[in-house]
Amino acid sequence: MSNIKAYQEQKTQGKIRLHANESPYNNLPQLLKEIEPLLASLNINEYPALNADELKSTLAQVHGVSSENIIIGNGSDELITYVMQRFLKPNDVVVTHSPTFSQYAWNASLLHVDLVSVNDKPNYEINIDGLIEACNQNNAKLCIVCTPNNPTGSLISKEDLNRIHKETSCFIMIDEAYFDFVDQNYQSYVLSSPRMISLRTFSKAYGLAGIRFGYGIAQQEVIQMINQVRQPYNVNAITQLIAQSILKQSNLIQSQIESILKSKDLIMSALQDCGCTLAPSMANFILFSHPSHELIESVLWEHGFAIKSFHNTTSNHLRISIPNEENTKTLITVLRGMKL
Ligand SMILES: Cc1ncc(COP(=O)(O)O)c(C=O)c1O
Repeated sequence: MSNIKAYQEQKTQGKIRLHANESPYNNLPQLLKEIEPLLASLNINEYPALNADELKSTLAQVHGVSSENIIIGNGSDELITYVMQRFLKPNDVVVTHSPTFSQYAWNASLLHVDLVSVNDKPNYEINIDGLIEACNQNNAKLCIVCTPNNPTGSLISKEDLNRIHKETSCFIMIDEAYFDFVDQNYQSYVLSSPRMISLRTFSKAYGLAGIRFGYGIAQQEVIQMINQVRQPYNVNAITQLIAQSILKQSNLIQSQIESILKSKDLIMSALQDCGCTLAPSMANFILFSHPSHELIESVLWEHGFAIKSFHNTTSNHLRISIPNEENTKTLITVLRGMKL
């Protein structure tokens, strides 16, 4: 335990937060009209709905599945923990690709399981052959695939996912935290297999990182198995209410996604013009490298932007989340004015 590091947060006070892949839009004002009277009648002396039935039923309608295909979490972070707890025991092997989301390694340490990381190809593509080989050689019990991947933004094709499924025998956890930003998802595929789950979150495209809500979609039997390790009342009453209410705002969310994607294109070309090398970035962030990455980071910091650097993991690399339109303009002006 003593070698496990508590999660650290970068200091961003007074800065525009472009380090955590959050949404730049705070949707609370649009939701307040609907949630205010509901909040007023909430019995907060009582535990919340154990299975968030209303919320699950709305989510089920939105995704064309049954409520039994859904598990709810206090953020998808919690669901990652549940899946790993449920399918791994000490000394088992879990396989994933690298670089990827840090919480998989953190959970692996807590659970005393061996994490085998397969490096991406030099063009940031996930090494599918390598993943399959690592799963089979190590008799892995779990394979974790993050798509679009954080931090690279790489996407796995359905064909490649199909290969991982067909050519291995382990359980596959697909982390789709950023799936709202791409046209592709694996839902029908996940629902056709008893060896898969897809995890999603309201922290990114829905702009609700502050309420902590994530959900998983899988076959009913898989959901039942993971529910065995779910904490009772893990999603609080206020979160259930707000999450339910944002689901009625699909036009608003869609227009915010479109604007994030437009801004992303503009920022990508500005970065390219600065001589940066860009990863595929199929989400609401861009991973890039530049020999003068430290200078870029400090100039952006001086202009009020906090971004994420990967000095320890991926040398020369920085990741920037996409801001709103106004901050996109400022950011591009700063980038274009840099002497690199
Ligand atoms: C790939 C990935 N999965 C899961 C999460 C956690 O999301 P949540 O806020 O729902 O816990 C993140 C957050 O950055 C992420 O990047």
